[in-house]
Amino acid sequence: MVMATEKILVVGACGQIGVELTLQLRKMYGGSAVIASDLREEHPMLKGTGPYISMDIMNKETFHVLVLRYNITQVYLLAAILSATGEKNPHLAWTLNMGSLLNVLEVAREEKLHKVYWPSSIAVFGPNSPKQDTPQHTIMEPTTVYGVSKLAGERWCEYFNHRFGVDVRSLRYPGLISYKSAPGGGTTDYAIEIYHEALATQKYECFLSEKTYLPMMYMPDAIRSTIELMEADASRISVRSSYNLGGMSFSPKEIGASIQKHIPSFELSYNPDFRQQIADSWPSSIDDGAAREDWGWKPAYDLDRMTEDMLKNLAAEVD
Ligand code: NAD
Ligand code: SER
Repeated sequence: MVMATEKILVVGACGQIGVELTLQLRKMYGGSAVIASDLREEHPMLKGTGPYISMDIMNKETFHVLVLRYNITQVYLLAAILSATGEKNPHLAWTLNMGSLLNVLEVAREEKLHKVYWPSSIAVFGPNSPKQDTPQHTIMEPTTVYGVSKLAGERWCEYFNHRFGVDVRSLRYPGLISYKSAPGGGTTDYAIEIYHEALATQKYECFLSEKTYLPMMYMPDAIRSTIELMEADASRISVRSSYNLGGMSFSPKEIGASIQKHIPSFELSYNPDFRQQIADSWPSSIDDGAAREDWGWKPAYDLDRMTEDMLKNLAAEVD
């Protein structure tokens, strides 16, 4: 366990990433050193593992008081509206995604917090970005409100680092796949639903078309990448906007074929909806050379290894 001189606050701790990240941070720093917070009720998996505080990150004063009262030294900000939900309520997505980040960056500057983590996304890229092996630095021009908020957020992170010395670090996560906590309204959520439906009904109607390739990652890799970035010496962090992060890349047809290796009767059909347009504007694969070079990033899971693990763990939940 790392010596608990750090006091960590996770905002949005009951979401898809928050639950697993909080549990991992508690393993490393000890339960009482990691305060989980969210708008929602405490997630059942967090209960009994450490302190939980109900908080709206849009209320800067409440957040500021919490930071002072608990001597917080690091903040992981995970509260956000994701891509598909964002298109249904663009104003809310912009307000929450920007407002929460600015509140955290301001308090980090005022209170000289040691570190801040804030995730960006492959959604910062748009239809004019190179689609294959999308580089770290290239044309961006996102077309979703979610992507616009993430790109603006990246610029704010770099600004607060360069102008005020705030040690803020960020990753452009691909679509994340996990079984512990439900996803929160993204375009890549099909790659989670498909496993649940494969086990429950042996069929799935996908809301993206069969050849839609997107960058994806299994949650254990995402959690490890986050911790590795945050543990890296500051001298190794050359990108202060957000790092491209690669895991794997596949289409609905390919994930279906991977599932069929375990469930041969699994049937996959396609009925693309509004999320197709979002997916079509994003990269198919990502060049994460900067993350590999700066702090040694290397993913562990490919599609088949992830499928095996997802099906095993979801089947165990059903039993
Ligand atoms: P999620 O929707 O599952 O979780 C977000 C959490 O934030 C929820 O528990 C929600 O209750 C909480 N929240 C919302 N508004 C809040 C507020 N005002 N105050 C406090 N808490 C609030 O999202 P996630 O998938 O865990 O994503 C976390 C972060 O990672 C987001 O910034 C997201 O954009 C980013 N990201 C996620 C993915 C992915 O595939 N899951 C990919 C790329 C980037
Ligand atoms: N998985 C996320 C989404 O689909 C990407 O940031 O919104």
